[in-house]
Amino acid sequence: MQIQENISLKPYNTFGIDAKTKFFASFKDAEELGSLLTPHSKLQTLILGGGSNILLTKDFDGLVLKNEIKGITELHEDREYVYVKAGAGENWHQFVLHCIKRNWAGVENLSLIPGNVGASSMQNIGAYGVEIDDLFWDMEAWHIKEKKIVTFTKNDCGFAYRESVFKRKYKDQFVILNVTYQLRKKPRFNTSYGAIEQELKKMEVKELTIKAISDAVIAIRSSKLPDPAKIGNAGSFFKNPEINNAQFLILKTQFPTIVCYPLENGNMKLAAGWLIEQCGWKGFRRGDAGCHAKQALVLINYANASGTEIYNLSEEILQSVKAKFNVMLEREVNIV
Ligand code: FAD
Ligand code: EPU
Repeated sequence: MQIQENISLKPYNTFGIDAKTKFFASFKDAEELGSLLTPHSKLQTLILGGGSNILLTKDFDGLVLKNEIKGITELHEDREYVYVKAGAGENWHQFVLHCIKRNWAGVENLSLIPGNVGASSMQNIGAYGVEIDDLFWDMEAWHIKEKKIVTFTKNDCGFAYRESVFKRKYKDQFVILNVTYQLRKKPRFNTSYGAIEQELKKMEVKELTIKAISDAVIAIRSSKLPDPAKIGNAGSFFKNPEINNAQFLILKTQFPTIVCYPLENGNMKLAAGWLIEQCGWKGFRRGDAGCHAKQALVLINYANASGTEIYNLSEEILQSVKAKFNVMLEREVNIV
C-alpha cells in the first residue's frame, strides 16, 4: 500500500506509452482503497486494471490506483446456474479459464480478452456474440465521495454496446470491487458468430464443449489481433458505428460491398475496420504509430510512440472516414 512518486506508467498500459504519474499505489481490498483515497481526496485519481483500454496522452498529475483485489468464490447454485464472485483485480482470461475448467458455461466466447474483471463490467466487454451483460449478476463498488460500498444489479448498470453507467452518469464516482456472474451448469453453445464454426471444423472437433469454443476463439483472435506483450495496442480503437436505415441505403448505393450488421431496432451497425481500410489506413505507419496490417480497427505503438502521436493518428483516421462516408467514428479506448 506504499505510495510511489514520479513513476513511469509504461509497464501498466498495454499501449506501452511512457507517461509518468505523480503518485502510484495499489490496493488489495476496500479498506486499503478507502485509506488511500481519504487523505488524497483533493488529488485527481485514475483507477487502473490491466491498462488494456486506455491511451495516456500526457503525464498524470494525480494518484493512479491499481486494483489488486483477488479471489474467485463459488457463492451458491440453483437448478440451472452457479453464481461466481470474482475480485475486480483478477485477470479476466484467467477467470475464464478457471470457469471452463469447472464446466461453468457462458464466458467461453469471451476468451483471451486482456484486462481485469473490474473493467470488464465497466466496459461491458464483448466478443463473438456474447457481452458481459449476458452473464452479469451483480457487483459491489466503492462510492468515492460517500465512502461506502454500493451493490449494483444488472438493471442499475445500464449496459449497452461497450457502455455502462460507469462510463457516463457515474464516471469517476465508483471503484468496482468485485463482480458476481450467473454461469450455466448446462452449456448453451453459441458458435454462430464470425469464424467460430469454421475454426471448430479446422480443429476437427468431434464433440462440442465450452473448452473447444474457447480454443477456437483463442485461435481466431491470435490470428488477427496483435499480442500486447509484443506490440503496443489497446484492441479496437473505435466502436463499430450505428447508422439509421436511410443513411445506410445511401451508403450501400455508393459502396455496394460495405460490411454491415442489421440491428433489432432497425438501424445498421457498420464494420469500422472496413471503413478505415477503405480509407487506405490499414498497415499505415508514421514513426512508431500505426494502423495494424491485419485489423485496421487496431492502432499500434511499434515501440516509442507518444500517446499524442497515437491520438493524432486516430483523429486523422476519424476525419478521413467522416469525409469519405459521412460517418463519425467514436473512440472506444479511454483517453487519459
Ligand atoms: P483498464 O485499461 O485498466 O481501464 C479501462 C477503464 O476502466 C479506465 O477508464 C479505468 O479507469 C476504468 N477502470 C478499471 N478498473 C476499474 C475499477 N475496478 N473500477 C472502476 N473503474 C475501473 N474489449 C472488448 O470488449 N472485446 C474484445 O474483444 C477486446 N479485445 C481486445 C484485444 C486486445 C489485444 C486488447 C489490448 C484489448 C482488447 N479489448 C477488448 C479491450 C480491453 O481488453 C477491455 O476493455 C478490458 O475490459 C479492459 O480491462 P483493463 O483492466 O485493462 O482496463
Ligand atoms: N474488416 C475489414 N478490414 C479490417 C478489419 C475488419 O474489412 O481491417 C471487416 C471484415 O469484413 C470483418 C468485419 O470487418 O469480417 C468484422 O471484423 P472482426 O470480426 O475482426 O470484428 P470487429 O467488428 O472489427 C469487433 C469488436 C472486437 C471483437 C470482435 C469479435 C468492436 C469495436 N470490436 O471487432 O473487440 O473482438 O468484434 O467479436 O466492437 C475490442 O473491443 O478491443 C475488440 C477487439
